[in-house]
Formats: sequence, structure tokens, C-alpha cells
Amino acid sequence: MREPDSKLISNLPYISDRFFEDEKKVWRNSWLMMGRELDIKDAGQFISFDIKAINVSLAIVRDSQGTLNAFYNICPHRSGRLFCDRVGKKAAIVCRFHGWTFGLDGELRGIPEEQLFPGINKSEISLRSISIDTWAGFIFVNLNPHPKNSLKDYLHGVAPGLEAYLANPKWQWHTGYQKIFKANWKDLMNIQHEGYHATHVHKRTLGATFTPDEIQSEYFEDSPGACSLLTVHRPRISGDAPTEMTLIQQLSMKYGTTSNWVDQDTSRAAKEIEKGVNFSASDKWVFDCYTFFPNLILFVGCFCKHVIFACFIKF
Ligand code: FES
Repeated sequence: MREPDSKLISNLPYISDRFFEDEKKVWRNSWLMMGRELDIKDAGQFISFDIKAINVSLAIVRDSQGTLNAFYNICPHRSGRLFCDRVGKKAAIVCRFHGWTFGLDGELRGIPEEQLFPGINKSEISLRSISIDTWAGFIFVNLNPHPKNSLKDYLHGVAPGLEAYLANPKWQWHTGYQKIFKANWKDLMNIQHEGYHATHVHKRTLGATFTPDEIQSEYFEDSPGACSLLTVHRPRISGDAPTEMTLIQQLSMKYGTTSNWVDQDTSRAAKEIEKGVNFSASDKWVFDCYTFFPNLILFVGCFCKHVIFACFIKF
């Protein structure tokens, strides 16, 4: 039998049960991006997630002090599900099974017919919390109660200026869509580590705008969670290039899944220098694409105005 060519990528990680079991440990011990802070800016707002491959359901809630709390989505009484909606707002967390009520901080506040539980001490009962932290306006959780790295250390290697740039509170949510792909999560991460595919897969859109030698890759080999930075530049544009999007391009940017629009205002790209992006200080810069292991792909660029595309990967 022919030995696999060591220069090619093995398919073993995609078909091995043992590898899958190891992946579950990775997802249980990594910082996982769960959303933007602005998604739950008011007290009582929440987002909930099921991470099916590891049989975990969790919720993130902002309490009345403005603190973000993450909990397992399970009642400590008889394991009732606490959050059934994906997003929403609650004054308190009430279990639908027997009506136990928890504060937004996870503390047990009320038990219907409490006399049925003689000797119970409510102050000893609370929702099971999950490690949570934020970076650049993104919310991360770690299912390990004692994460090996702080989130800051986990993202080691990323330019310090990027955090302040992305966390700008004036930035507005503009548009978004969700697509469910039946794909192995590693595929989505792998393809963002290189720009080699752009001129082929995206030949009718982005591939027509960029050329492979305009794309640079950098790998954060010492970082536990920041994987790579792909920087894309455009060929130098002609003086008569359009400076405004056509209606079709505007619609495809807002409602479609792709767009071939690149901002032609080169002075804007140059102004991004020293803000944590465009390290080559080039007026041909279009976007930086970061991959954060295991579930965040982040595009920061001037496709239109200032744009973040965040791609959230589920397991
Ligand atoms: S399971 Fe939640 S109150 Fe009983």
C-alpha cells in the first residue's frame, strides 16, 4: 500500500472516532466565541446556545449590574431547561418545570411552596456558572472551570491596537444572516488559513479582484488560540474605478452571501494604519482575516465603510 504523501493533508482527522473524542476535549477546554457584547447590552437580555457534539446547552445573561454571566442551561433542581429561546430578555430566570426562580446573577431567589423543602438553604443553591470573558466586544466562554490560559493569553500574538479598534461602541450592527452548512467545522477553519483558493472558488466575485500574490499569510505559532492572519491587498486601481457601489452591489452586500465590492478610496485604507490593522501600511490594503481557534473567523476591512465580518462556527 502506498504511504500517504507527507506533504498532503491526511483525512484521518475527518473520519477517526478517536480524533473526534479528542476534539470534544478541545471544545471543552478552549475559549469559544459566543456573540457580541452589543447583542445583550441591556439588563436581562440573554443569548443561549446548544453545543450538540458535546451535549452542552448554555446561556449568557447580562445582570442588573451590567455584568455578563454564563450558565449551564439547566436547573439545579431537576435539570429543567431554563432558556428555550435563542435570544430574549427576562426580568428573572424562572424554570418552567416547578417554577424555581433565579436572579440574573444565577442566585436562587424563590421556591414555590418552599415549606415542602424543610431546612433548605437558598443561599447555597445557584445556577452552575461558566468561565466568561470579553475581548474587542466579543463574548467568549470556556467550559473548563479553571481555564489553562486567560483569554488575554489565549489570544497572544494579536496586535494590541486591534482590540480597541474593534470594541468601538459607536459601531452599529448593520446586517447579518445565518447559514447552516453541513460541513466539518475544521474545513471552515482550514480554508481561511490560505488565500490560494480565492482565484478559483471565488473566480466570479473576489477572485476577479485579487490575485494570489496580493495575499499574505502569517501564523501565530506561539499562541494558544490565535491561529493566523491573512492579509489581502488589491491590484493598484485605475483612476476611473467607481467610488460608489451599484444598486446590485448594495443589495448583494446587504442580503447576499458574497460581494465583489472593494472600497476604491485608497486614502481610507492608509488611515487604518496604526489602528491594529493593515500592518503593511499599504494603500492597497483591503482586509485582514483572523482565525481564532476553534470557532471564530474574523474579517476586518474596508469593503464598504468599516466592516467586521465575524463567522461563528458551531460544533
Ligand atoms: S426542575 Fe427546575 S424547578 Fe424543578
